Amino acid sequence: MRAAVLGGGPGGLNFAISLKLRDASHDVLVVERNKPDDTFGWGVVLSDETLGNLHTNDPVSSKAIRDSFVYWDDIAVHYRGVVMRSGGHGFSGIGRKRLLNILQDRARSLGVKIEFETEAAPVDSYKDFDIVVGADGVNSRVRAAYLDAFKPDIDVRACKYIWLGTRQKFDDAFTFIFEETKHGWIWVHAYQFDADTATFIVECSEETWRRAGFDRMNIEETIAACEKIFARNLGGHKLMSNARHLRGSAWLNFNRVLCERWSHKNIVLLGDAAATAHFSVGSGSKLAMESAIALASYLDSEPDITSAFRRYEDERRLEVLRLQNAARNSTEWFEDVERYFDLDPVQFNYSLLTRSQRISHENLRQRDPQWLSGAEKWFEQKATGHVPNSARPPMFVPFRVRGVELANRVCVSPMAQYRAKDGTPNEWHFVHYAERAKGGAGLVFTEMTCVSPEARISPGCTGLYAPEHTGAWQRIVEFVHAETDAKIAIQLGHSGAKGSTQLGWEESDAPLESGNWPVLAPSAVPWSAQNQMPRELTRADMDLIREQFVQSAEMAALTGFDWLELHYAHGYLMSSFITPITNRRTDEYGGTLENRMRFPLEVFRAVRKVWPDEKPISVRISAHDWVAPEGVRPQDAVEIARLLREAGVDLIDVSAGQTSTRARPVYGRMFQTPFSDRIRNEAGVATLAVGNIYEPDHVNSILMAGRADLVCLARPHLSDPYWTLHAAADLRYDGMRWPKPYWPGRDQLYRLKSRSEALTGKV
Ligand SMILES: Cc1cc2nc3c(=O)[nH]c(=O)nc-3n(C[C@H](O)[C@H](O)[C@H](O)COP(=O)(O)OP(=O)(O)OC[C@H]3O[C@@H](n4cnc5c(N)ncnc54)[C@H](O)[C@@H]3O)c2cc1C
Ligand SMILES: Cc1cc2nc3c(=O)[nH]c(=O)nc-3n(C[C@H](O)[C@H](O)[C@H](O)COP(=O)(O)O)c2cc1C
Repeated sequence: MRAAVLGGGPGGLNFAISLKLRDASHDVLVVERNKPDDTFGWGVVLSDETLGNLHTNDPVSSKAIRDSFVYWDDIAVHYRGVVMRSGGHGFSGIGRKRLLNILQDRARSLGVKIEFETEAAPVDSYKDFDIVVGADGVNSRVRAAYLDAFKPDIDVRACKYIWLGTRQKFDDAFTFIFEETKHGWIWVHAYQFDADTATFIVECSEETWRRAGFDRMNIEETIAACEKIFARNLGGHKLMSNARHLRGSAWLNFNRVLCERWSHKNIVLLGDAAATAHFSVGSGSKLAMESAIALASYLDSEPDITSAFRRYEDERRLEVLRLQNAARNSTEWFEDVERYFDLDPVQFNYSLLTRSQRISHENLRQRDPQWLSGAEKWFEQKATGHVPNSARPPMFVPFRVRGVELANRVCVSPMAQYRAKDGTPNEWHFVHYAERAKGGAGLVFTEMTCVSPEARISPGCTGLYAPEHTGAWQRIVEFVHAETDAKIAIQLGHSGAKGSTQLGWEESDAPLESGNWPVLAPSAVPWSAQNQMPRELTRADMDLIREQFVQSAEMAALTGFDWLELHYAHGYLMSSFITPITNRRTDEYGGTLENRMRFPLEVFRAVRKVWPDEKPISVRISAHDWVAPEGVRPQDAVEIARLLREAGVDLIDVSAGQTSTRARPVYGRMFQTPFSDRIRNEAGVATLAVGNIYEPDHVNSILMAGRADLVCLARPHLSDPYWTLHAAADLRYDGMRWPKPYWPGRDQLYRLKSRSEALTGKV
């Protein structure tokens, strides 16, 4: 086979080597515009896993790479005059030039022809070759020549960065430095890559970059300015650039590239040309080199080029998407970093270490148990004011708000049971809530409980508007208080245009087959074409509904509930005021966000007046309508939360969606937690996170990173009422109070866990 490889970076060279290793008779040409010793960057980081893959493919070049490596184990974070250091991270760095020289030598020794200082010609000039590999980097011309075939999606990220080097030593840790200047925050990612040189990437927001005047500086001026900003960390050493061949200042925005197709006819894209991963997860070279191995091996094993390209693309796309997902989380963390600058250094460091969501709480424990235990103690001390003797996982640390203390931070999320008759909870509800309260969660929410018969979603919804409701709820509340450590919260709501619908397991949100009642909404906008047209609320209707909320709140207070939540999410009445999708009013209750929030705030204030002072009120909102461009977006949710906080709401329960049938949600593990993070850290209000959180590890990392104050789990509590007790057993935490009659079960469970731990040697 004759292969023309356009671009001699890590991807192109490793492909050339890999192809030759599989069949020495292949004729491989690499065309590279730079000289062998030219390079635009400094050092790259590779993991042990990548080294293993390189070794299996080519022990010769991988040994040379390994011999040139600088290893380090720690991550150090310089922030607000403190240096925080954690260990067990295991990195290795190599100079980009050294890496390329090793690969060039190896390629040449295998008979690859490399033409340096040669600009690649248009692809159709390589007619004599069986395949053309576009390994020409992030700004690939090969890709650009066949845009319609490759369909690249290029996302230009917000921050500005410049890749510099220094002789200052950073040989004891991968180092992040955050420096506050009068123009804004600027930070550095620094790591050693050979005996006397370190990479020094400087990054900041575009606004800071402009305010600092970097947009008007040439490279010498930029370097001088950065040397001044980071003088404390440079110990008198200079910063260096080797990007003088780049025009302008050498500051860049990162381009996230993903192509819909990676091959076209006999042309195939490789490395950054096909897909990039942000430098903050240090995996671009890994992706390029591992993709190169995969491409060469499929060309060797598959019967023809077409099927080789297809297998290459199928296999690598999955890996790329996984990495790009982590890289996106990490990129966004740096883009949004200003929101975290109020965090204590310990929490800031934790948030940084877990930013990609690839490293979890227990993962950090494996890396550096001592550091994590110190962080856990800090968390507990901050919550309780006492220095604990031993650390406990954050989920088991009490939470105090107003006069209420929760024993731990796990909540049973509100879940409609659709089992009531005329709004009255019955034996089903008693057993359901009693079991969940016995299961160890610190707070148990009731389902959305409705403020009037018409406010119900379905005929099976619970209510708190008739005397018999109070008695039935009281029985549940009294059991919870007498027999468990849990607190119990009532969620009050009004269904609005989503009312008069079928039970959850029937046709959800569809009208009843018979016995429908009229529905109300801020505007005459039906939930869907098959739902009833709601009547637009008059001011008199609004007065009535406000008083219904007040009356239910008074009944909830009499019943003894510890906590009240107002349901302002999921498209029900209050939510349909907040979102412009369903609020089309032209009076003072529609239009601007301030107007759309007017009635929900009025109801909150009226309820707050009758709800006992020592008891908290949370409000559940939909932080994202997932309807572009007109729906509520996370940045609007910050404003919504701010208005609620200013009115006196104690916590925001951050849910999302279900406000429009047009919504296009993006699901995933902990998918709504970023909204909670944003609201908590931008609006400065305590939050509850919810949505596809199902492992103790998720809960602990959300809390420890300051992404929420409490965590709600819904479906996990349907499959396991004792989720919290079981989580404690999994974590070998023995501070949970089990109901006395269950002690033998508890003892057996812990014994069995210890035994299996002794057998397998791991927790
Ligand atoms: C600031 C920064 C830090 C990074 N840190 C790391 C890290 O720590 N670890 C890591 O794994 N990755 C890191 N990367 C990413 C890494 O550099 C790239 O992902 C990797 O180099 C991709 O390899 P490649 O072979 O696909 O492309 P490139 O390395 O970009 O190579 C493409 C080659 O093609 C040549 N070329 C382009 N056009 C032409 C043409 N028309 N004619 C001839 N030749 C051409 C170029 O000169 C270049 O040599 C970092 C990137 C940046 C920007
Ligand atoms: C059966 C069921 C009923 C629900 N009822 C309510 C409700 O009454 N009020 C509410 O705010 N959310 C309700 N939800 C949403 C949950 O509280 C939670 O936000 C959602 O299920 C995501 O959490 P999870 O991934 O832990 O299940 C319900 C969810 C389920 C599964």
